[in-house]
Amino acid sequence: MNISVIGAGQMGNGIAHVFAQSGHSVTLIDIAQAGLDKGMATIGKNLDRQVAKGSITEEQKAATLKNITTTTDMAAGVKQAELVVEAATENVDLKLKIFRDLDANAPAACILATNTSSISITRIAAATKRPGQVIGMHFMNPVPVMKLVEVIRGYDTTDAVTATVVELSSAIGKVPVAVNDYAGFVANRILMPMINEAIQTLFQGVGGVAEIDTIMKLGMAHPMGPLQLADFIGLDTCLAIMRVLHEGLGEAKYAPCPLLVQMVTAGKLGVKSGEGFYVYTQGSKDLVVAPVFSK
Ligand SMILES: NC(=O)c1ccc[n+]([C@@H]2O[C@H](COP(=O)([O-])OP(=O)(O)OC[C@H]3O[C@@H](n4cnc5c(N)ncnc54)[C@H](O)[C@@H]3O)[C@@H](O)[C@H]2O)c1
Repeated sequence: MNISVIGAGQMGNGIAHVFAQSGHSVTLIDIAQAGLDKGMATIGKNLDRQVAKGSITEEQKAATLKNITTTTDMAAGVKQAELVVEAATENVDLKLKIFRDLDANAPAACILATNTSSISITRIAAATKRPGQVIGMHFMNPVPVMKLVEVIRGYDTTDAVTATVVELSSAIGKVPVAVNDYAGFVANRILMPMINEAIQTLFQGVGGVAEIDTIMKLGMAHPMGPLQLADFIGLDTCLAIMRVLHEGLGEAKYAPCPLLVQMVTAGKLGVKSGEGFYVYTQGSKDLVVAPVFSK
């Protein structure tokens, strides 16, 4: 299948990786050449890790890389697409613009999927003239490792399009779960308020970063604490999702914690910016609490 992936960030490069590894022909598209270079470098590194672990061969790695081409020209990059998976920054206006452009440039039969974490599929679909062919395809981070694909049916998404996306997800080794389109869907409706509450708990001085994460790891058997997970997801993405929940569900309990807002304003976005609740130094495996929280 010809698949175009929009956005080569942490999710987009993972999505390109898993489709290419299953033999699909992938065009990876970003507005920035630097984004494409970084995305391809990450795919190369992740494939090396799979080779080192013995889960794929050198030949499979080479074949996967051969299946991916890159471009900064979105119109040209979707001309042959049978499926587009959009994984650009979590911003409503940006996604509406991208879907208007995709609708104008992708073939009429092409399915337009979005990896949005929370933005209404119905709203994105309404920006196109093919709302029946617009669907949520929500991969989890890191994409090559995590099994789940949350498949979100918009108001108009057809059963045939849902069935195609469910089958395709299974065929690339994922486990698709189909749900309906309300703010945050299922995954982030439940996860993000927990992360926001952990930040609120820190903000109110109930516990420090290490205390909160240790309690949730050891007490609830979570593989990582909510603050480390927030850093991993990206604090800008967490804030954007909380705003969608707050606006979409209309309840005060979804208001983003002021500390989260302030950290994003200060450019502390977590792993991708080098600092969030923890400091990330290239090559280091140690989890070091950020100076502002260890005072
Ligand atoms: N981070 C997570 O854990 C996670 C998990 C599931 C879903 N998501 C969703 O996936 C999407 C991408 O998130 P991410 O974490 O990969 O973000 P990111 O910031 O790592 O990457 C976003 C990429 O999109 C590119 N981009 C921005 N505007 C573009 C445009 N007009 N055309 C093409 N490319 C454009 C940027 O250059 C960047 O490379 C968001 O909708 C997010 O909510 C994220």
